[in-house]
Order: sequence, then C-alpha cells, then structure tokens
Amino acid sequence: MKAFSDAARYARDAGFVAHLAAPLVDLLGPRPGERVLDLGCGDGRLSAAIAARGARVVGIDRSPAMVAAARERGIEAHELDAAALPFVETFDAVFSNAALHWMGPVMEAVLAGVFRALRPGGRFVGEMGGFGNIAAITTALLATLARRGIDARTRLPWTFPTAAAWRARLERQGFRVESCELIPRPTRLETGMAAWFELFAADLLALVPADERPALVAEILELLAPALRAEDGTWYADYVRLRFGALKPEESR
Ligand code: BEZ
Repeated sequence: MKAFSDAARYARDAGFVAHLAAPLVDLLGPRPGERVLDLGCGDGRLSAAIAARGARVVGIDRSPAMVAAARERGIEAHELDAAALPFVETFDAVFSNAALHWMGPVMEAVLAGVFRALRPGGRFVGEMGGFGNIAAITTALLATLARRGIDARTRLPWTFPTAAAWRARLERQGFRVESCELIPRPTRLETGMAAWFELFAADLLALVPADERPALVAEILELLAPALRAEDGTWYADYVRLRFGALKPEESR
C-alpha cells in the first residue's frame, strides 16, 4: 500500500487528483450532520470539500505527512491501515478517491472493514483506477525496464479491476451496487510526465541505480510522447476511472 511522504510535492504534482473529483463528491451527496469516513484521505482536500457541505468527516491515511496536512485543514485525521479499520457501524458513508488501487493485496480486508464501519443503509462511494488505466504508461515503463534485463510485471503496485469484477467483489462483500462504471479520463499533467513518474512510480524507478534513472525516465518519455504528449507539449496521463456507489443493505444487522 502506497504512503506518500511529501505533502507539498503531492499538492504540486498531483493537485488534479482532488480538483477532478467534484463529480464524485456530488455522487456521495454528503448531508449536514452525516458521519463520513474518507478512506485514504491524503492531504484532506476532498475531506474538506465534504465537510464544507456540513458532514462530520474523519479521514484516515497511512502517511503521517498526509495526516498532518489534513489536520492542518482542520480535518479529524488518523494514521491508520485501511486493512485494519477499527470502526463498527460508525459511519453513514465511506468515501474514497484514488486510493483503493494501491490496496490490491489487502482488498478483502479493506472491503470487509468498510462494510463493518457502515451503519445498515450506509453508502460506499468511490473512484479508483479501472481496467486499462495508465496502460500506455505501464507498458512503456515495463518495456524500458525490460531493455535493462528487469522484469517488473509482477512488481506493479497497483490494481485496476473491470467494472464487472469490482461489482462482483462488492456484492460478495454484501453491498448492493447502485452504480459501477469505467470512465476514460485523459488527465492533463501540469507539471509534466517526469514528475508523475517520480511521484507515483518511484519504487519502480528505484529498480535501477540512481545514476541511471534520468536516462530511464528520458527513454520512457520518448516512447510515450507519440501517445500522450499533445501538439502544444502538454502531457496527459491515460487515466481510466472506475466510479461506483454501493449500499450496505438495511437488513444486514
Ligand atoms: C491513478 O489512477 O490515480 C493512479 C494509478 C497509479 C499510479 C498513480 C495514479
């Protein structure tokens, strides 16, 4: 599970993550007085947007730096492992943006904990990378590492399910799925593609010695440019969102 250690850098190079999530907050539809858990709250930008609608938000994140940044915004935030949620029928809603795709190996425990944390009738609304997400980025990265004799196919830290697989997974957990769809969303990278790799794929870049990394990144960008760099030089990430809304049935007491 990824824990981002530099909140200022995250705000600079990944500000779009929260900016583009307004429709997800609308899908959540937070109401005054509701208790909402923000799972993987990061620097708390979206927690604050939810709180601004009158909900009482608790954010959790694995990263101490992110928890500190969320607290600075006035959010009640805790450093907690999403696979070991301690809450029982505590929340009216659980919300999660751009965090679940880092939790593949522990997803069963995460979903069980979310289900337990909700009161009967509570909702689980989220967005994560879906099937096909960063396909070009991943392929260029793997190909460039392979040129150096490194097979990283089993070392990718993220998981991007299809809508059908995700729906089935939520249903197995006991949720009633109201919506679940893939949304292709090419995403403008204001600070460029190299910054994206340094923020999100640092562990994979670290498979080569530090002095070889600039050349590795340059090669990746050369492969990606025909697909993901626009005429004006702007880079886009080939994001595909998986957006869903589900309910914990009233009868599940
Ligand atoms: C995303 O889809 O938000 C994402 C996936 C992998 C790495 C970074 C971001």
